[in-house]
Amino acid sequence: MSVWNSPRRGASAPPKVTVPSLLERKRCSAKISAVTAYDFPSARLADDAGVDVVLVGDSLAMTMLGHESTLAVTMDEMLVFTRAVRRGLRRALLVADMPFGSYQASDAAGVENAVRFIKESGAEAVKLEGARVSLVERLVEAEIPVMGHLGLTPQAVNRMGGYKVQAKTHEAIARLREEAQRLARAGCFAIVLEGIPREVAGELTAELDVPTIGIGAGPGCDGQILVWHDLLGLGQSAPAKFVRHYLRGGELMGAALEHYVADVRAGVFPADAESYHLPAEKPAVVEELAASVA
Ligand code: KIV
Repeated sequence: MSVWNSPRRGASAPPKVTVPSLLERKRCSAKISAVTAYDFPSARLADDAGVDVVLVGDSLAMTMLGHESTLAVTMDEMLVFTRAVRRGLRRALLVADMPFGSYQASDAAGVENAVRFIKESGAEAVKLEGARVSLVERLVEAEIPVMGHLGLTPQAVNRMGGYKVQAKTHEAIARLREEAQRLARAGCFAIVLEGIPREVAGELTAELDVPTIGIGAGPGCDGQILVWHDLLGLGQSAPAKFVRHYLRGGELMGAALEHYVADVRAGVFPADAESYHLPAEKPAVVEELAASVA
């Protein structure tokens, strides 16, 4: 038993973040905040804090399932996490990340799997990596909003030879610019720019009509996204240069758990105030109980 699924604070629902409202944010230069989340309580905290976009990222393969890359996570696993996040959101836009293998074989497979996210998990949009222009066109035609993702695309880790900053040469910058323009023309409502020089991200942001959401792409993007575990300091290894820890979550949680273990071992948890008692007004019950034990 737990009291987690209790009614939300405040009676009235805040205005919902939608795909058109994000485009409007770009038009009036209002920054967009985004974060990944993978479960109900995290989604609820992010929503209550005013986060605009919650992404169920395939980074959960690493952060939640302990894999070494994002490649192993499956559609069925992504659906379980996305459903949990759905239950925690009221205001934020819910975007589900298409996992590796769910759209690479064909556009038809991509549409089929994106439809699953919408129908089976309540996602409002999907995200996919790379310049998959024809797939984006088909998804938009099928009324499924798509977020693009360019630059350091983790599903291409084997081609890139590791997680390396991208778009550092004239040629690579030109290619990235062309890919971003093509994705925007194909109908992406936003594009994540990951692991690229801030100057390049700033130029792309100025050129594109759709919002850019940066991660390791500097402050010039229309919005920012961080992985939940990075933002809250829950990671196991040294953070990347672009990460800011807003909490030393891992340290605090570790200390709390050590405290709990010590209290249990010392017999000081639970205390009397944390224990149930027989009703004081029925001492006969206590006597019966005492007699049955004797
Ligand atoms: O999977 C993920 O968390 C992502 C973000 C880093 C953009 O794709």
